[in-house]
Amino acid sequence: MPRTAYVNGRYLPLREAAVSVEDRGYQFADGVYEVAALMNGRLLDWPAHLARLERSARELAMAPPAAARLSLVAGRLLAANALRDGLLYIQWSRGVARRDHGVPAGVRPSLVMTVRPFDFAAKRRALDSGIGVALVPDERWLRPDIKSVSLLPNVLAKEAARAAGAAEGWMVRDGLVTEGGSTNAWIVTSSGAVVTRAADRSILRGVMRDTLMRLQNEAGVRIEERPFTPDEARRAAEAFITSTTNPCVPVVRIDGAAVGNGTPGPVTRRLADALWAEIERQTGWRTAA
Ligand code: PDD
Repeated sequence: MPRTAYVNGRYLPLREAAVSVEDRGYQFADGVYEVAALMNGRLLDWPAHLARLERSARELAMAPPAAARLSLVAGRLLAANALRDGLLYIQWSRGVARRDHGVPAGVRPSLVMTVRPFDFAAKRRALDSGIGVALVPDERWLRPDIKSVSLLPNVLAKEAARAAGAAEGWMVRDGLVTEGGSTNAWIVTSSGAVVTRAADRSILRGVMRDTLMRLQNEAGVRIEERPFTPDEARRAAEAFITSTTNPCVPVVRIDGAAVGNGTPGPVTRRLADALWAEIERQTGWRTAA
């Protein structure tokens, strides 16, 4: 079945969906976005994605989209695509105007939504194997806390990691790991402390990161929110990443060297089990038998 996309009030076949070449998202990366997981026909952590999109827009002095409109469009788009498991992409750009750096007045923002299938079961299976990461310089601007579509440094970080044979790049700034190219970075120290960077302006505050943190708080496990160095990461007992597309995936190699004994560790597994249980509670999603 051909996929349907939403563009500024219209539901269209994906192939025909387009914005103007003078859209500021296209010319200036002047826009914000979200990626939400659709599992078993339900959106995971939808209110958190709405809240973050609103915050991102406000941080760029852009009027945010109305949450009710987003929910309505998302619901219609999901129905039109009849997907059970996938990713919902939302982009909110400043809109179409004659090219000029200055922010134009009175322009209507562009809203685009697309969906695509996604294999969450494969990500759950990655729990058994883990991935390798490569350390790369963090060359982003100073506001990666805003989920803007200006992703070129992330793209290049991912590409550098791929060239080094790794699945993700862990970005390093001022001698400290910030986060992955499209994921948050975590380590488990040899004394069992779970560490991830505080969600200040240096990283994107991941929805999956926050969900895992909430679950751990509820379980009485303290997460250390602090930066860590590449060296501490290399000496860690375990490491893992979180994101909508990688709910909790072990990192078993950093720059080709084994983390711990080079296999997914028990703390990561326990955290992943808690996260997948929460996903199942929210959406009813289960791995097919
Ligand atoms: N990426 N850090 C960065 C730089 C990200 O791009 C993402 C998400 C995350 C994790 O956020 P969340 O847990 O809310 O997915 C952290 C999305 C999936 C993307 O760009 O495709």
